[in-house]
Amino acid sequence: MQFSFDSLPATQIETQVLVSYVFEKDNRIEGALAALDQAMGGRLKRMAESGELTGKLLETTLVHNPPGLSAERLLLVGAGKPEKFDGIFLRRVAGLALRSMRSKSITRMTFLLREGERNAAGAQAVSEGLLLSSFDSDFYKTEKKNSKAMERVALAGAEGAAPGAIEKGMERGRIIAEAQNFSRTLVNEPSNILTPRVLAERAEAMARECGLGVDILDERRIAELKMGALLSVAQGSIEPPRMIVITYTPAQAKAGAPVLGLVGKAVTFDTGGISIKPSEGMDKMKYDMAGGAAMLGVMRALSMLKPAVKVIAVVPATENMPGGKAQKPGDVQFAMSGKSIEVLNTDAEGRLVLADGVTYAKKLGCTHLVDAATLTGAITVALSNVSAGAFTNNQEFEDRVLASARRAGEKLWPMPLDDEYREMIKSTIADIQNITSGRGGGASIGAAFIREFTDDTPWVHLDIAGTAWLDDQKPWAAKGPTGFAVRTLVDLAMNMG
Ligand code: BES
Ligand code: ZN
Ligand code: ZN
Repeated sequence: MQFSFDSLPATQIETQVLVSYVFEKDNRIEGALAALDQAMGGRLKRMAESGELTGKLLETTLVHNPPGLSAERLLLVGAGKPEKFDGIFLRRVAGLALRSMRSKSITRMTFLLREGERNAAGAQAVSEGLLLSSFDSDFYKTEKKNSKAMERVALAGAEGAAPGAIEKGMERGRIIAEAQNFSRTLVNEPSNILTPRVLAERAEAMARECGLGVDILDERRIAELKMGALLSVAQGSIEPPRMIVITYTPAQAKAGAPVLGLVGKAVTFDTGGISIKPSEGMDKMKYDMAGGAAMLGVMRALSMLKPAVKVIAVVPATENMPGGKAQKPGDVQFAMSGKSIEVLNTDAEGRLVLADGVTYAKKLGCTHLVDAATLTGAITVALSNVSAGAFTNNQEFEDRVLASARRAGEKLWPMPLDDEYREMIKSTIADIQNITSGRGGGASIGAAFIREFTDDTPWVHLDIAGTAWLDDQKPWAAKGPTGFAVRTLVDLAMNMG
């Protein structure tokens, strides 16, 4: 998809479809739309009066051969109530426009920014919305799709913006959305193709291409470093584990400056191990590496956006299988930190691999940690697929992550991590156990387990089990991997330097 900026006045833009959006309010045809309406001899106002053009959220109105405009069509997408409109809706409006036009075999479109969004952030959001919506999950279909791909997309509407701001926002949005789609591509791969070794190869290739530092720890080095928690999960599979480490170093690295560690769970398939999962829906467990894939996407974007802070991604990659050598409930394992863990349920494996991931990230010098993991079904019980849960040992740091999420248009919800949860993971035989006997609070208990390995290093845990995968397609997004957390963490790194 070619991506460009068009500085012509909206009425003079030649394209297959000119797209903009309309709010649900009395004088809907205002600002940029008033200018179009004037060229169109008042047609939009008449459509608004007759009730054909309401501005209701995600309603689409397509006008063919709009009089007075050079565009072949005008598409207006409902943006809903103006007071509720934000970057999330702006991305959805742009994404819906692209997907609905693409399904009609339209290959060229121009998106006209409205008055309120004529700035770098608005251009970034629209670019992200457009590029993210063009992703599809049908990698391995051997027959060509009916609908054509969108070939050329342009942004327009820079009147009143600071010079260069729109272009800058567009470029930033393109880099971030392409990184997010890179992450989605990895998540979409089935587990027979994307084993831990293949994930490591793909990560290494990306890092080399992007000029990032890369170190892939194989099973021998993982054992030398005594990463017993990661190894305990891997031992049930014939596929060996990998610890993927990717480093971005800023040009002027200051001594004593913060180092951001991004730890991502990459279980390339989670059968549950000996505590095996029910067969229904197990196929989805190929997305149990979405946290790791998100971190790889973030690093790809950062290599181009060049933040002032050093960032290290640590991605423990393994399968969780019930092989003859698999660990069994009740087994005791020793994590890299030295802590002993009673593994009461082999399906609570994400916290095990993250334990060693967090320990290793600290060993590499990280002063701040964020982990992203498809950790618990319980987070979906609490939040459905609407928001990801955020847990922390440091409120100030979590507030920064939450602010990044708001700017990035990703929904995070702060979840509790009281000291009482620590009591629940005390083991009889070892230091800690990986599940509790009681019911309830599963997402917080999972987070409490990881906290044991942070030793008060400021840390935020993102449980993305509910948000990393879309079970049903949306008008603005394909079914399948979402790439959740990439945008938030890119924003965090850009604002940490
Ligand atoms: N990968 C799963 C969590 C998960 C569930 C992700 C559904 C996406 C969708 C994780 O490893 C797991 O199995 N967690 C268990 C923990 C339990 C055994 C304490 C769970 O949530 O049931
Ligand atoms: Zn599991
Ligand atoms: Zn898992």
